[in-house]
Amino acid sequence: MNDNKKAIISILRKSEGTPVSGQEIGERLGITRAMVWKYIKALRKEGYDVRSSPKTGYILDSCPDKIDPEMLQVILKTSLFGNDVLYYSELESTNNTAREIASRSSEGTVVLAETQKSGRGRMGREWQSVPGGLWLSLILKPSIPLDNLSRVTLVAGIAVTNALRNMGVDAHIKWPNDVLVKGKKICGILTEVSAEIGKVEYVILGIGINVNVKLSDLNDDIRRNSTSIANETGKPIDRTSFLASLLYELEQQYIRFKTRQFAEIVDEWINLSDTIGRNVRVTTPTLLIEGKAIGITEKGALVVLDKNDKKHEIIAGNCRYSD
Ligand code: BTN
Repeated sequence: MNDNKKAIISILRKSEGTPVSGQEIGERLGITRAMVWKYIKALRKEGYDVRSSPKTGYILDSCPDKIDPEMLQVILKTSLFGNDVLYYSELESTNNTAREIASRSSEGTVVLAETQKSGRGRMGREWQSVPGGLWLSLILKPSIPLDNLSRVTLVAGIAVTNALRNMGVDAHIKWPNDVLVKGKKICGILTEVSAEIGKVEYVILGIGINVNVKLSDLNDDIRRNSTSIANETGKPIDRTSFLASLLYELEQQYIRFKTRQFAEIVDEWINLSDTIGRNVRVTTPTLLIEGKAIGITEKGALVVLDKNDKKHEIIAGNCRYSD
């Protein structure tokens, strides 16, 4: 996109609904009002909904529903996350691409796709990645032992939940890292790792959020248990702005993870979770554990108290509510 058009969009976004006159935009860009008008007309053709009122000026009502990596750089408030963004209209899986480039990429690099042909979920499941979602992988390089990997997943769950709550969506975390709204899944997180001699080399944090996904685009069995931000709030949102806010939350939580006691993070996770206090059935590749979820350990494991008052610490598994 031409620099003047980008600048106009940036000015109108920053004004957040307050009209900006053609005169003011022209002065700021060093172009005439007539040129501004020409660019506004071109932007409308590209799907930007720019309202104009002869007395007050221009207002940006909505942007085309495409992630705009250039605009992301303008509005991003992070210092590391999202400095490098690899944006694709389609990929097999952002986690696969992130893995391929992780060793030679800097921490905070984001791989992003409008759709995925083979999106992957936890436990080898398929992840439906239709248009309108946010399908991304974030490359992290924490200096932690492999044993502490589950902590990173909990941190990501907190960040996503906060970003959703900032949009007015009443999100809660279901252990280990599903984010639910009124019991329906809005986000899934797939954490993958490369490690050597018990030490993490890099972590790929794969995050899938049904932002503006049309539920009718999902298969019946998935649709029944899914929701999206647009479905909850009643209107589609600007995914570029939401991505900027998500990366900000992720970076804030990651800084906290590196600088504060993990107990603080556990407390916040418990506050945001709807798993603690519930009766659960947790399956691992080798075990089925039934009981009440009563806490999270320092390693990020779920603590389940069974009917014989025996405590089980489960580091990874599939959790279902039984109450
Ligand atoms: C789950 O709940 O099962 C986890 C779903 C994770 C989906 C995301 S979308 C972006 C990234 N790329 C993938 O292939 N999967 C993750």
